[in-house]
Amino acid sequence: MKYYILTLFPEMIEDALNTSILGRAKNAGAISFEAVNIRDYTLDKHKKVDDYPYGGGAGMVMQAQPIYDAYKAICEKAGHKVHCIYLTPQGQLFKQQNAKELALKEDICLLCGHYEGIDERVLEEIVDEYYSIGDYVLTGGELPSLVMIDAISRMVPGVLTNSESGEDESLENNLLEYPQYSRPETWNERKVPPILLSGDHAKVDAWRKEQSILRTKERRPDLYAKYLESNVDK
Ligand code: ADE
Repeated sequence: MKYYILTLFPEMIEDALNTSILGRAKNAGAISFEAVNIRDYTLDKHKKVDDYPYGGGAGMVMQAQPIYDAYKAICEKAGHKVHCIYLTPQGQLFKQQNAKELALKEDICLLCGHYEGIDERVLEEIVDEYYSIGDYVLTGGELPSLVMIDAISRMVPGVLTNSESGEDESLENNLLEYPQYSRPETWNERKVPPILLSGDHAKVDAWRKEQSILRTKERRPDLYAKYLESNVDK
């Protein structure tokens, strides 16, 4: 999987993606990324990339030309039209299922906005999908891009080791993950649930499933309703 990130702050992307599991995945060749600085493509002699909105109003709008030319350069380099995602609170809510589907693509371009938005005409020209990471407004698209890249990359073969990739993880089958415990057996007078020390794998599995269901019902009633719906015939 190759990510192209169109941004005014490439260092923000690079710092994050060279760290931890994603950095390891990059070094192993499972993913790669290129942060493309939109400012490098402006034809303005002062390197300007934004201007006042027509019709008035607060803030500045990112202009079409630098974004379009930067995106065209990416497609030329890739040799095909690269799937383009714009991060915006106006997009569809990004979910685990979207991460799984996007992980199947050869490459993705993530467009990060700033200021009061982007000239609508370039969005109409290049964007394939609009995504939001939640109902709140951030200062720019870089953090949402990183969130999406992280969630997508976990689904790319070779990024997680066997022990990291849990089939039981949260949101599988509309359930949250069960609680986990590690040593010591007693901490702050709190004991590990005895069943986990029993060595009886069938009992442990049943307990974990029960905990997942209880936890989902309590913390995410919306997800629990979906779980019940998808399990009516089972
Ligand atoms: N840009 C600003 N806020 C955002 C959000 N919540 N999701 C995606 N992109 C954004």
